[in-house]
Amino acid sequence: MKVTLITRVALAASILAIAAGNSMAQDVTYRNQIAPMWKAHCIACHGAQSPERSDFLLDEKGYTAKSQGPRMDTYERFIAFVAWPDTGALMRRLDDGRSPYAGGKPGNMYERLGASEQERAANLKIIKAWVGEGAWNLNRWSKRGDVPAVAKEQLDKIKLAY
Ligand code: HEC
Repeated sequence: MKVTLITRVALAASILAIAAGNSMAQDVTYRNQIAPMWKAHCIACHGAQSPERSDFLLDEKGYTAKSQGPRMDTYERFIAFVAWPDTGALMRRLDDGRSPYAGGKPGNMYERLGASEQERAANLKIIKAWVGEGAWNLNRWSKRGDVPAVAKEQLDKIKLAY
């Protein structure tokens, strides 16, 4: 079969596109993409002025009334809302409503991801790649209602590169 120049160019382009797609999944790091995004969209209510997660939980309503969520301004603090102890919190809050158990409703922090739907969707894609392929699960550590506890196989897929 004669492979035309155009076919070869198209093939090379699609290989490059696949490589670029893969490298996005592999290369998203907290330092390069997540921390800057977090500073732009989340710091106002989750920064150094906010209570630590445990203190937040002691007075959840009081802090929420003052628009203060739990503090998540470092890598260590932030990942506590992905893996443990607040398993899946980041996913439940930032989901666009399309994941299983989201009930078709975006999480209440999804709107914070950007000013336009396009920006929100783009940022969500980056965060999902950072959390890890197959790791974007809304399950908690323990079963709640119809939502089963997170499974070891789901946790195994978590990446969270620093
Ligand atoms: C205008 C203030 C505000 C902004 C901006 C904001 N949040 Fe929040 N967030 C809150 C408050 C208040 C709560 C606690 C009340 C609640 O549970 O909804 C909260 C709760 C959360 C929770 C749940 C914590 C838990 O203990 O379960 C997560 C996760 C979260 N936010 C992530 C984010 C992320 C990520 C961003 C940026 C994209 C963000 N938030 C932007 C105010 C904000």
